Amino acid sequence: MSDLETARIINLPKILDERGNLSFAEETKQVPFCIRRAYWIYDVPGGEIRGGHSYYKNQEIIIALSGSFDIVLTDGKESKVFSLNRSYHGLFVPTGIWRHMENFSTNAVAFVISSTDFDEGDYQRDYEAYKNSR
Ligand code: TYD
Repeated sequence: MSDLETARIINLPKILDERGNLSFAEETKQVPFCIRRAYWIYDVPGGEIRGGHSYYKNQEIIIALSGSFDIVLTDGKESKVFSLNRSYHGLFVPTGIWRHMENFSTNAVAFVISSTDFDEGDYQRDYEAYKNSR
């Protein structure tokens, strides 16, 4: 299986309650890596694109906690688009896959669970170099 094929939507538990629903993610159950970090992206102006890089080591799960956006993944040859619009869906993005995020709705919040501490040295931000390395 190629790395891109291992990218997938993980169904997170959903506890339905008339007081409001609750979802969660546990390292030992839904998350296929050890959790080191969480960050979130919000107040994205209409038409903006985030991402546009891959990581050498980091793995992620991306959740649309609110609103919707699209995540475009590519391994330099093939691409896949995942539309996220449910707060109980987590997109697993494996190491080494180029990604960008687009079509953010108003009030979209992207919550990201990561396997490594932040390290600018872990980013590949040059798409031509990325493609040539594949
Ligand atoms: P970046 O990952 O490039 O954003 P995106 O991929 O969503 O477009 O990060 C933007 C800036 O924020 C960059 O200067 C690095 C910094 N940053 C941190 O300091 N810590 C973090 O955990 C993350 C994800 C980014």
